[in-house]
Amino acid sequence: MRVLVTGGAGFIGSHVVEALTDAGHEAVVLDALLPSAHGEGAASPAAAPGVRWLRGDVRDQDAVAEALHGVDAVCHQAAMVGLGKDFSDAPEYVSCNDLGTAVLLTAMERAGVRALVLAGSMVVYGEGRYACPQHGVVRPGPRAVPDLRAGRFDPPCPDCGAALRPGLVGEDAPLDPRNTYATTKLAQEHLAAAWARAVGGAAVSLRYHNVYGPGMPCDTPYAGVASFFRSALARGMAPTVYEDGAQRRDFVHVRDIAAANVTALEALRMPGADRAPGSFAAYNTGSGDPHTIGETASALAEFHGGPDPVVTGEFRLGDVRHITASSERAARELGWRAQIGFAEGMKEFAASDMRAPSGRA
Ligand SMILES: NC(=O)c1ccc[n+]([C@@H]2O[C@H](COP(=O)([O-])OP(=O)(O)OC[C@H]3O[C@@H](n4cnc5c(N)ncnc54)[C@H](O)[C@@H]3O)[C@@H](O)[C@H]2O)c1
Ligand SMILES: [Zn+2]
Repeated sequence: MRVLVTGGAGFIGSHVVEALTDAGHEAVVLDALLPSAHGEGAASPAAAPGVRWLRGDVRDQDAVAEALHGVDAVCHQAAMVGLGKDFSDAPEYVSCNDLGTAVLLTAMERAGVRALVLAGSMVVYGEGRYACPQHGVVRPGPRAVPDLRAGRFDPPCPDCGAALRPGLVGEDAPLDPRNTYATTKLAQEHLAAAWARAVGGAAVSLRYHNVYGPGMPCDTPYAGVASFFRSALARGMAPTVYEDGAQRRDFVHVRDIAAANVTALEALRMPGADRAPGSFAAYNTGSGDPHTIGETASALAEFHGGPDPVVTGEFRLGDVRHITASSERAARELGWRAQIGFAEGMKEFAASDMRAPSGRA
């Protein structure tokens, strides 16, 4: 099949393009090479065999129409990512991520393309899942500053104050986007669902967890924690770990994420696939093997041969204590499971190249 990969020059998109061509598919890349991701004046990468390269913006109807020629399905990775600097970034996030998705979906309707895989995110949940021994599943509110200052990082049961057990978030957990980026990622899903219903299309959102691996951008306010640790080690410095390092996350390797995209695209396009026209489905896309932030810093330091992490006890308001997901629905319904283990993936990441800073940091 021929797949349009928006954002195909990005960290994840470039691995998706490679996985598609390795699986015998063709890829068309549409990427604006945003300065926030690639720096000013970035040149288009050389196109590999089986890849058509177009520099353009998903908000540009003509560029999207051109990119959709002969395409069977769209894999929509293009987005402004990360937390940004402050709320003044909101118009740009909404424009890129939501106006961009709306323009893309409209062009797909016109071009008769009815299959969409969207790069979703676990940020739509806002919080992890917690259980109290007495009250079952509860939703703790934001953590109080005096607790954090005193090193009480784990949120207590809102009903009885007991210690909570962190669990795995399922796709039917309440949606609670807590910042501009998260809000735009959730709106992308709602737009995709509305499009599917309106045109009889089928859409899948893969809600990625913490993606890491070769080509991850280094040292920008937009990158994830694994990138900060890896960038510090590259400078010969110790990774600094906030809180007590016991925060739990699900780190998933970028090649597993690329494979999930190919699997979802093939599932949508398979003759006789039981995707009803008008359907939208969201899948957690994680490794299923949670680790703490402290373990991640230690693993990277060890594999890189750098100084041991320093646990600072500092905290950032708005950080979530634990967020880990169950990716069982993706295994059951799509037949996808992450294959790259934590130690193996971190070992490779500790030794691999990162993308140069964008200059926007
Ligand atoms: N990295 C993660 O851990 C993570 C986690 C959850 C979800 N995601 C999602 O995965 C997708 C890819 O993220 P990434 O980490 O590879 O980021 P990235 O910044 O490396 O890649 C995004 C790419 O999209 C392009 N782009 C952005 N806006 C565009 C527009 N309007 N028109 C055309 N191209 C545009 C950029 O130039 C860039 O090449 C995003 O949708 C992001 O929200 C990433
Ligand atoms: Zn309780």
